[in-house]
Amino acid sequence: MAHGSQRVARLSIDDKEIDLPVMAGSEGPNVIDVGALTSQGYFTYDPGFVSTASCDSEITYIDGDAGVLLHRGYPIDQLAEQSDYLELCYLLLNGELPNAAEREQFNTTVKRHTMVHEKLRTFIEGFRREAHPMAIMCGIVGALSAFYHNSLDINNEEHRRRTALRLIAKMPTLAAMSYKYARGEPFVYPRNDLSYAENFLHMMFATPCEDYEVSPVIARAMDRILLLHADHEQNASTSTVRMAGSTGANPYACIAAGIAALWGPAHGGANEAVLNMLDEIGDERNIDKFVAKAKDRDDPFRLMGFGHRVYKSYDPRAKVMQQTCHEVLNELGVEDNPTLRMAQRLEKIALEDSFFVEKRLYPNVDFYSGIILKAIGIPVEMFTVIFATGRTPGWIAHWNEMIGGAYRLGRPRQLYQGHQQRDFVPLAQR
Ligand code: SDX
Repeated sequence: MAHGSQRVARLSIDDKEIDLPVMAGSEGPNVIDVGALTSQGYFTYDPGFVSTASCDSEITYIDGDAGVLLHRGYPIDQLAEQSDYLELCYLLLNGELPNAAEREQFNTTVKRHTMVHEKLRTFIEGFRREAHPMAIMCGIVGALSAFYHNSLDINNEEHRRRTALRLIAKMPTLAAMSYKYARGEPFVYPRNDLSYAENFLHMMFATPCEDYEVSPVIARAMDRILLLHADHEQNASTSTVRMAGSTGANPYACIAAGIAALWGPAHGGANEAVLNMLDEIGDERNIDKFVAKAKDRDDPFRLMGFGHRVYKSYDPRAKVMQQTCHEVLNELGVEDNPTLRMAQRLEKIALEDSFFVEKRLYPNVDFYSGIILKAIGIPVEMFTVIFATGRTPGWIAHWNEMIGGAYRLGRPRQLYQGHQQRDFVPLAQR
């Protein structure tokens, strides 16, 4: 219905009629502004925020039914084909694609910020050798605020710009350090003559003993993996960054919170969980048994890499990732890869089996990424670290969009199901 030009949803409850404003975005579903409910004595109830828009944003749009993903309006398949990761970082942060001069300046500036303070080498050595690299990343990224205390004013646009550049530039260096530390190998310094992805692979795999040549195909694949993970609307880790940011916490603390949230196997930890699942299945002959487990509601087992809160059709990133997977395995001469064969058989079953079709469980971005990373020689425990590295510009762009605009402290309420008030019982009477 309409009140003048304002559309409203009228809620009739008890003896009340409450008119709630309906707001339209540039794409996607309209939203009902429920802010007035509190004054009427009601909260909304939406565990998992399945039907809740937590904010308005201009950065990324997802149409889960159509399998559409747009970054500042540009489709992910066109960006994957025609752009590169650093250019997408610029787009996410600034809202427009850079011209040649802007692109050159951004890339050069990022390159000149890839080194980290030497004291971070001492910091990382405080971890046990067998520490999970995601534990190291949570700690070391949060610790960055201790090194940049003179540019942490979140209301200073220049401080926010500098922080964005520092994080995008330093995440690959920190990620590679967490890998080298676990292997007991010396850290490899970044090099300014290499591209972003080449530099990351070089810091991961080079040693002082011999020159390390980065394969252009592998570097392109790594760049595409980072690009495909760059942002994804209000997912769990990005919402965590926004929640932490709404308290006024410094950006390094907010990104560290996002890294921690990403770690879970239902979210960014799924790529590691996919490979662990394929290892557990072990052989194509066991696939049917595990598919049956995934269908059994009494069995907590789920097919990792399948299903998505928003995509109820094929994740557009998974399509690009699948193509990249074949390119990399072909380049490495391991196209006849038992893990890939098992994954493809699993995907075929899931796309045909009525259980998965009815629940609209399609492969997601994590399904193929792990196979590519394993083929490149990256250990499973580093997979989510690479997801976090790729997602950094998205986290920063959402944090910056919130802090740069009008925002409020995030503070959800609850449906209280506990005891009503009762008097304390002295110990002697219990
Ligand atoms: C990412 O949000 C994002 O954008 C995330 C992400 C990003 O870029 O930031 O896209 C990255 O996190 C991708 C998702 C990676 N996670 C996994 O691959 C883990 C396996 N997937 C599931 O855990 C699950 O699909 C979720 C968590 C991803 C989504 O779950 P929802 O939306 O909460 O849906 P649900 O759990 O309620 O599932 C609906 C039904 C349930 O059955 P019923 O209770 O209705 O009978 O489908 C079943 C689930 O049991 N189901 C699965 C399943 N996923 C859902 N059954 C078997 N295997 C699965 N993988």
